Amino acid sequence: MHSGDGPAGGRQDFDISVAHSARVHDYWLGGKDNYAADRAAGDAVIAAYPGIVRSVRANRAFLARVVRFLAAEAGITQFLDIGTGIPAAGNTHEVAQAAAPGCRVVYVDYDPVVLAHARALLESSADGAIGYIDADLRAPEMILEEAAQTLDFSRPVAVMLIAILHLIGDQDDPYGIVSRLMAAVPAGSYLALSQVASDIEPEQMAEAAKRYNRLAHETQRHRSHAEVARFFDGLELIEPGVLAVQEWRPGSEIEARTRSAMWGGAGRKR
Ligand SMILES: C[S@@+](CC[C@H](N)C(=O)[O-])C[C@H]1O[C@@H](n2cnc3c(N)ncnc32)[C@H](O)[C@@H]1O
Repeated sequence: MHSGDGPAGGRQDFDISVAHSARVHDYWLGGKDNYAADRAAGDAVIAAYPGIVRSVRANRAFLARVVRFLAAEAGITQFLDIGTGIPAAGNTHEVAQAAAPGCRVVYVDYDPVVLAHARALLESSADGAIGYIDADLRAPEMILEEAAQTLDFSRPVAVMLIAILHLIGDQDDPYGIVSRLMAAVPAGSYLALSQVASDIEPEQMAEAAKRYNRLAHETQRHRSHAEVARFFDGLELIEPGVLAVQEWRPGSEIEARTRSAMWGGAGRKR
C-alpha cells in the first residue's frame, strides 16, 4: 500500500529520508541515483533474499525480450510503459526502436527522479516519438488522456506494467486499474507485465517484504502465480504463459538459468 503521498494522480514529493522504489531499484541495478535510506532498504531486502539483485536483472532482461517480441514479432509500434523507473540498460524505447525505428513510446512514472531523467531522454530521442507523463497508475484515466497526445488509441498499443503492480495494494484495486487500461485500447493490443512473486522462495520473500515495508514509502504486495495470471483474464495469453520471468522466451541458456522471484507474461486483446 502507498503511504504518505498525495491523492491518487498527484506526484510524489522528493524526499530522501525514506526509501522510494525507483531509487531502491536503481541501487540494486548498480546505478547512482540513490540515497542512504534507499540503500538501507535495499540492503535489508538483500539480507532476507540474497537473490534480489539477480532477480531484478532477470526482470530487466524480461522487459527487453517482451518489448522485442512485441515490436519485432507482434507488429506493435506503440508502447505505454507505466512504472518506467530510472533509466538502465535496455530501456523500452531503445529496444523497440532498434526493432522498428518508428515506434512511439510513452513513459509514465510518478517519481521526481525518474522525471528528471525523462527530460534528458526526451531531448535525446532520434526516430519515432517519446512522451513522458508524470502521473500515478492509480489514476489510469489521467494517463490515458495524456498519452493520447502521442499514441493513436484507434491502433494497437502495448500496455506495459513491468515490476510495478507489487507496489499497488489490493485496496487500490489493481485488477480494476488493469481492466480500465485494457478497455481503452483496441483489439490487437497487448498487456505485458511482471510482478514480484509470493510463492517463489516464499519464506524469504515474505521476510523481504516485511523488512522493505518498514523502511519504504511504497509498500510491497507480493502475489501468487494465480493472482498474477488473473491480470490476464479475458486476454489471449501468449505462449509460454505466465512463468518466472527468466523462463519467458529466454534468449540464452544463461538467461534461462538466472533465477528470479518474479512472475511475468504477455496477453493479447481479442
Ligand atoms: C521497481 S521499479 C520498475 C522499473 C522498470 N519498469 C523495470 O522493470 O526495470 C517501479 C517503478 O514504478 C514507479 N511507481 C510505483 N508506484 C507507482 C504509481 N502508483 N504510479 C506511477 N509510478 C509508480 C516507481 O516510481 C518506480 O520507478
